[in-house]
Amino acid sequence: MKITVVGSGFVGQTAAMRILERGLGDVVLIDIIEGKPQGLALDLKEAAPVEGYEPSIVGTNDYAETADSDIVVITAGFPRQPGMSRMDLLGKNAAIMRDVVANVVPGSPDAILIVVSNPLDEMTALAAEASGFPKERVMGMAGVLDSARLRYFIAEELGVSTTGVEAITLGSHGDAMIALPRHATVNGTPLPELVDEAALDRLFQRTRDGGAEIVGLLKSGSAYYAPSASVVAMVDAIAHDTKTILPVCAWTTGQYGIDDVYVGVPARLGRKGVEEIVELDLTDGELTALRAAAEGIRTKCKDLAAI
Ligand SMILES: NC(=O)c1ccc[n+]([C@@H]2O[C@H](COP(=O)([O-])OP(=O)(O)OC[C@H]3O[C@@H](n4cnc5c(N)ncnc54)[C@H](O)[C@@H]3O)[C@@H](O)[C@H]2O)c1
Repeated sequence: MKITVVGSGFVGQTAAMRILERGLGDVVLIDIIEGKPQGLALDLKEAAPVEGYEPSIVGTNDYAETADSDIVVITAGFPRQPGMSRMDLLGKNAAIMRDVVANVVPGSPDAILIVVSNPLDEMTALAAEASGFPKERVMGMAGVLDSARLRYFIAEELGVSTTGVEAITLGSHGDAMIALPRHATVNGTPLPELVDEAALDRLFQRTRDGGAEIVGLLKSGSAYYAPSASVVAMVDAIAHDTKTILPVCAWTTGQYGIDDVYVGVPARLGRKGVEEIVELDLTDGELTALRAAAEGIRTKCKDLAAI
C-alpha cells in the first residue's frame, strides 16, 4: 500500500509514525512548509532500527511524490485554539481542503480519501465534492475518536480495563454527537445497568466536550495521539480489507431515513472504502437526533458553497 498523509502537523506526523510502526505501507508525508515533512521523515527513518519497522517514508513538498497512492489521509488545516468551536475553522480550512484535493486527485485518481481536518463533517463533504470521487471512497474520521474517548471515560468511571469497554457514537463531530447507551457495554453488561442516568449524561457530555477539554489544557493546538490512533485504525481496516465496522463520517443513501449527506454512522470498511453502512437498532429519540445532526451538516454544507 502507498499511503499519503497530507499535513505534517501533530496529527499527520503521529499518524505517519503509527502507520510505519504497524507496517501498513509506504508513507509519503507532505506539507506546504519546506523542510518540515523532510525533517520528520528523516527522524522517523532514524527510529526504524530501534523500533524494528521498515524506514519506508518520504517527506516532501511536491505532490508528484504522492502519485498512485492507495489511501490519502488529509490532516492539513488549522486546529482549534482555546475558546474556538470547530465551526470557526470552516472558512480557513475550506480553502486548504480545496487546495489539497486539487493537488492530490490528478496523481491518485483511484485513492481512498480519509479526511481528518475540521470541521470534520463539512470538510469531508467538501473533499468528496472537490474530488468528484465515488462517495464510498471519501470518508471522515471522528466517530472512532469520539467512541474511544467515551470508552476511556467509562473505563475510568468504573475502574475497569478499557479492553472490555465497547461504545459507539454517531451523528456529527461536535455538539450533535449522539451516544448510544444501549450499545455501550462493559464486559458484556449494558452500561445503563452499571451507572445511573446522571452518570450517563456526565460521561456523554464529557465525550462531546472531549476535544475542547484537551484544547483548554494544551493552550495551543489540539489533541493528536487519540486522533492519529483513530485514523490509523481506519487505514488498517482498509489496507487489510478487514470489513471491520467502525463509526465513520460516510455518505448516506437512505440509511436511517437519511439521504445525500455526510454524517457519522457505523460503516463496514474494506479495500473499496465504505462498503456498507450498518443500520443499528435505534430508539425513536436516537433516530430523531441522528436525523437532526444530518440536517445540521446539510445546512452548513450549503454555507460552504458561498465560501
Ligand atoms: N477529525 C478529528 O477528530 C480531529 C482530531 C484532531 C484534529 N483534527 C483537525 O486536524 C487538523 C490538523 O490538526 P493538527 O493538530 O495536526 O494541526 P497542526 O497545526 O499541527 O498541523 C497542520 C499542518 O497542516 C499544514 N498545512 C496547512 N495548509 C496546508 C496545505 N495547503 N497543504 C498541505 N499542508 C498544509 C500546516 O503546515 C501544518 O503542518 C486540524 O484541522 C484539526 O482541527 C481533527
